[in-house]
Amino acid sequence: MFGIPTETKYMAGSVFGNILKCSTWGESHGAAIGAVLDGCPAGLAIDENYIQKFLDRRKPGQSDFSTKRNESDKVEILSGVFEGKTTGTPISLLIRNTSQISKDYSNIASVYRPGHADYTFDSKYGFRDYRGGGRSSGRETAGRVAAGAIAIRLLEEFGISFMTYVESVGDISVDYNNFDKEEIFRNMLYMPDKDAADKASEYLRNLTADKDSSGAVVKCIISGCPAGLGDPVFDKLDARLAGAIMSIGAVKSFEVGNGREAAGLKGSQNNDEFYSENGIVKKKTNNSGGILGGISDGSDIVLTAAFKPTPSIYKAQNTVNTDKENVSIEIKGRHDPIIAPRAVVVVEAMSALVIADALLINCSSKLDNLKKIYG
Ligand SMILES: Cc1cc2nc3c(=O)[nH]c(=O)nc-3n(C[C@H](O)[C@H](O)[C@H](O)COP(=O)(O)O)c2cc1C
Repeated sequence: MFGIPTETKYMAGSVFGNILKCSTWGESHGAAIGAVLDGCPAGLAIDENYIQKFLDRRKPGQSDFSTKRNESDKVEILSGVFEGKTTGTPISLLIRNTSQISKDYSNIASVYRPGHADYTFDSKYGFRDYRGGGRSSGRETAGRVAAGAIAIRLLEEFGISFMTYVESVGDISVDYNNFDKEEIFRNMLYMPDKDAADKASEYLRNLTADKDSSGAVVKCIISGCPAGLGDPVFDKLDARLAGAIMSIGAVKSFEVGNGREAAGLKGSQNNDEFYSENGIVKKKTNNSGGILGGISDGSDIVLTAAFKPTPSIYKAQNTVNTDKENVSIEIKGRHDPIIAPRAVVVVEAMSALVIADALLINCSSKLDNLKKIYG
């Protein structure tokens, strides 16, 4: 009937993607968390061990700078995979919660943590699962990482790969003269520069002693994407990536290519000049970050996400309670003094879900592509 939608894809914001659809479910202190990934083509080789490697990068308790919550984050594939290959049906992924200490959160049941989602959840729903932040907890991102790992596996088939790392912690930045890709997995902060990682560790140790937390910047470089991914108007590839990355808790800004810096440049400085090499169009520079007009241009896609400092700090803070009285709060529970190192793999997973979705959408963008399938 006119005006009445007969179908809606809207499910309270928990579903993401067009052809490759990921929904996450679960709360921090519920029985389990997880994801359902629908739309993944049949025949993709995948198993729990592959997904687990990504979850282990996000897992709590791995370093001095991550929450001491001791979760194994073991993933179980419940459906959609048979004899080591995807079947083309929904892939259901389960991660049990095993280390909840909900009593630590009893003092936030009636008091709003500054910088967290307690006040806004109460304003919206009038009721909230306060244990560990419920659905607003960073723990929700485990489901995204499990689903994103499958997207990464799919992209591997097409030679598309990711390099994601922490670029700065507070005001300590990677020195690109010391850049060492191997170093990313050698230090607890996932920084590609040992000196910077050592300085940042020292900074974080002092902050922890002072019951405080730090912000940080994460960079993600996606290599091997063909030109042509993304759509011209509302579904521009950079718009889709921005939405995906900004949906991660604590992300406060997103940039593609040189981002904000472009605003201070002249066109002659900012434009990436094209040249042709053996009939292949290339660019001398990559200020655009691999996307022009919302469509991938075949060069590396370069994304930057800025994370705010962890809002739950142990220092005493002024706030308000549910009776709208002024009170002070000393937060308990187990919190990371910095979010970004554990979120590196979340940024990678969300980017992969967008790129894999765009790859599938692009199959129908021109007749030639359809003829390759049906011709
Ligand atoms: C991987 C990850 C871990 C996080 N860990 C914590 C944490 O230990 N304590 C905390 O207060 N916030 C943590 N957060 C951030 C909160 O989820 C987030 O700040 C909160 O939901 C408010 O949303 P906003 O910062 O986007 O406004 C984490 C986020 C992510 C992505």
